[in-house]
Amino acid sequence: MATFFALTSRGLVDALRDELAQLGAKNLEKEPGGVYFDSNWATVYRANLRLRTATRVVKPILRFPAYKNEDLYNNIRKFDFTSLIEPEGTLAVEASVRDSVFTDQRFVAMKVKDAIVDQFREKTGTRPSVDNDKPDLVIVVRAYKNTFSVSLDTSGDPLFKRGYRVGTGDAPLKEHVAAGLLKLAEWDGETPIVDPMCGSGTILIEAALQARAIAPGTLRRRFGFMGWKGFDSEAFKTELEAAIAMEDEAAIRIESALDRIYPATMAADAGVSVEEKRRPLFYGYDVDSKVIKLAQANAREAGVDDLISFRRHAMETLEAPIEKGIIITNPPYGARLGDEESLKDVYRDLAFTLKSRFKGWSAFVLSGNPQLSSAMKLKATRKSVVYNGLIECRLLKYDMF
Ligand SMILES: C[S@@+](CC[C@H](N)C(=O)[O-])C[C@H]1O[C@@H](n2cnc3c(N)ncnc32)[C@H](O)[C@@H]1O
Repeated sequence: MATFFALTSRGLVDALRDELAQLGAKNLEKEPGGVYFDSNWATVYRANLRLRTATRVVKPILRFPAYKNEDLYNNIRKFDFTSLIEPEGTLAVEASVRDSVFTDQRFVAMKVKDAIVDQFREKTGTRPSVDNDKPDLVIVVRAYKNTFSVSLDTSGDPLFKRGYRVGTGDAPLKEHVAAGLLKLAEWDGETPIVDPMCGSGTILIEAALQARAIAPGTLRRRFGFMGWKGFDSEAFKTELEAAIAMEDEAAIRIESALDRIYPATMAADAGVSVEEKRRPLFYGYDVDSKVIKLAQANAREAGVDDLISFRRHAMETLEAPIEKGIIITNPPYGARLGDEESLKDVYRDLAFTLKSRFKGWSAFVLSGNPQLSSAMKLKATRKSVVYNGLIECRLLKYDMF
């Protein structure tokens, strides 16, 4: 067993801890930016394949104080990096500094890289090269108040890069945040969801992946650990097959949920068009026809387009497309100056649409601007703080009676 750390956005740490517990990780310990856990490599492969709310999983290797260049250089060399990749391999160092005597993160990254390549040269006579694009090994260095923590990135590309995004609109949600909103909304995995301002469709695509039990990592080709010495490809294959096997059971469950939602006669009716025969579990709308096309393309790429109906429609005149469900949406925030006043109308109209045409529904609205959400003049029955990038947001729950 070794200790690993799964990272996520602030506000989603509890959701991530629950996911890790379900995957069999042990000794879970929450931190502001993620969760420490103990596990073997098979569970780390599983975590990378299946976690929906994590951004990456790293393996901490060193922690030390450093005030001078030599401290940094000598401490880095205490770990044997030649045990991880071949001398002909490639590496990248990602550094960040905060409240430290070291103020230049590029300098820190360079010092760490020098220490590692010198170690290789002395031990093997040759050295790995730097490749910031597709390195075999990514070393993550964080300096905070002169304490350095060094870890190895087991994920490679961040885990929110699922591989299904063909394109996005202006302000897409990161995929792990969208997955986190579903957890914060305590969505049960089969209740229909409507997103009246869906943009490129991230919330609904993440919901559809979850409904079908498609592990997000099964859509990717590569993880960081695959470039390391000792990568156990058999154990990874076992985990991949186990992840894919979960889809069969979910397909049966979703079919019976759809049978309950849609009357049995509908599909059998002669003269009904293919489009009318569709039985979506998720409905996404947006005024912008370009983003609707992108949402459709993204859903196709993720293999869940049959479960989602994306249509161009203005939220102001939207009718509930189905008898019962929930709304989860991420309306525009207006980061630019001057946007706020005109956006207040959008929030007022959203409140009107919800009150008048979604009676009996619950709506979850992600807002990054309290002035805008208070323009809705609705009383939230629950509020959860969640960060969308650097923006502190609230997921506000409204019950429509
Ligand atoms: C913050 S974006 C949503 C991003 C989305 N969650 C994603 O991940 O791509 C807000 C969306 O609301 C849409 N929108 C703004 N006003 C609207 C309206 N009145 N009716 C429908 N959609 C609207 C915009 O076109 C934009 O795509």
